[in-house]
Amino acid sequence: MTILITAGPTREPLDPVRYLSNRSSGKMGYALAAAASAIGHRVLLISGPTNLDIPSGVDFVPVESAADMYQAVATRIGKCELAIFAAAVADYRPANFASDKIKKTDDVLTVDFVRNPDILGSARKEMGFEGILVGFAAETQNLEENARHKLTRKKCDFVVANDVSRRDIGFDSNDNEILLVYPDHSQPLPRDSKEHLAHHILEAALKLRPLPSS
Ligand code: CTP
Repeated sequence: MTILITAGPTREPLDPVRYLSNRSSGKMGYALAAAASAIGHRVLLISGPTNLDIPSGVDFVPVESAADMYQAVATRIGKCELAIFAAAVADYRPANFASDKIKKTDDVLTVDFVRNPDILGSARKEMGFEGILVGFAAETQNLEENARHKLTRKKCDFVVANDVSRRDIGFDSNDNEILLVYPDHSQPLPRDSKEHLAHHILEAALKLRPLPSS
């Protein structure tokens, strides 16, 4: 099977030396890529900038901004049977890129932001993806309800939800505690390493549809 995985943060440039980004380490996406590659699948890992080593055997596509990630996904997802969107994509980018470094002048600097494309939300409709689709939901409140809303809106098979208000798990941590949210039920996975959770998420995704006969 060919599996596409997005991972890491995106960087939204403001001027030649500055960008807007977030605290995603990329660990969950890289753990998924390593787990899938280890059991013999072809993996396309489309990743924003991280400090992690590229898992062995994966096809690595480095990107910076959400627009870059959108293009990288749109041109490759058609060849994949499973797509897992673990990236923490910036929802907004600066409306204007200043080609020269912004110099300090006034006490207050105001920057306008515009919406980035929703890559996961475009997979079914704009990109015509018909394979197994798995999203992530990082929430600080109403975990299951918000994740279920994303599941429906983005037409996923299931969403991996986690509570990012907890400092002991999630962003930047080696561990996580997650809830797999399906259209008609949900399944909690207790706190564990991201490596172990990656195997469970992958197993859950792979049992959704029969494997092609090859
Ligand atoms: N995602 C994406 N492209 C974006 C934003 C998010 O592909 N521009 C994907 C993420 O990789 C993740 C899922 O969508 O799998 C959930 O992202 P999130 O930012 O939490 O969802 P939003 O729909 O932006 O919801 P909100 O900001 O309202 O919480």
